[in-house]
Amino acid sequence: MTAPLKPEILLTKEEIKKEVTRLAQEISRDYQGKCPLLLGILKSSFVFMADLIRLLEIPVEIDFVSLSSYGSARVTSGEIKVVQGLRAPVKGRDVLIIEDIVDSGLTVGYFLDYLRKRKPSSLRLCALFDKPSQRRISTPIDYRGFTIPDRFVVGYGLDYDERFRQLPNLYVMEDCSEYSHTLDWRGKR
Ligand code: IMP
Ligand code: MG
Repeated sequence: MTAPLKPEILLTKEEIKKEVTRLAQEISRDYQGKCPLLLGILKSSFVFMADLIRLLEIPVEIDFVSLSSYGSARVTSGEIKVVQGLRAPVKGRDVLIIEDIVDSGLTVGYFLDYLRKRKPSSLRLCALFDKPSQRRISTPIDYRGFTIPDRFVVGYGLDYDERFRQLPNLYVMEDCSEYSHTLDWRGKR
């Protein structure tokens, strides 16, 4: 019997926690005395959102939107749709978008335009992972976690074809033939 494959760990849960803590401190400092509306982009930002808000030292409100761009492919289709829209009013609010990863920038670029039309009093973007090499539209990231290489990653909320969101580390999952093997998610570095 062949030994289970160990996928490569790009970032450990400890490294991620440290960076999420740093981002929470920066956001808490900048929004002192305010109560921003944090808008998570579903589904993949839900883990980051859950960890981040519990480290904040300011009051916040949260909401989620569902945008679709990927289907089950690993490269962006370039077409963004709002699948489920906002419930909280945005007008006059300090809005902070919480995104897991910015790749081409199309998803977040589209959402920034969508929100600007609804006249928030301020609008910023927080992204935990940034893959700048595939950027198709320029996207200013106000709170940026890790800059990562152009590799397909899963875990910490990010999926491949709806799988692997629950994994606590961030893994490189480029080769789909890996699915035919048993994987050992303790991984390797
Ligand atoms: P963008 O529109 O190309 O910037 O893509 C953003 C969305 O694509 C993110 O919200 C992710 O859900 C997804 N995405 C981009 N890169 C990856 C990846 O490496 N793994 C999993 N999902 C990804
Ligand atoms: Mg996402």
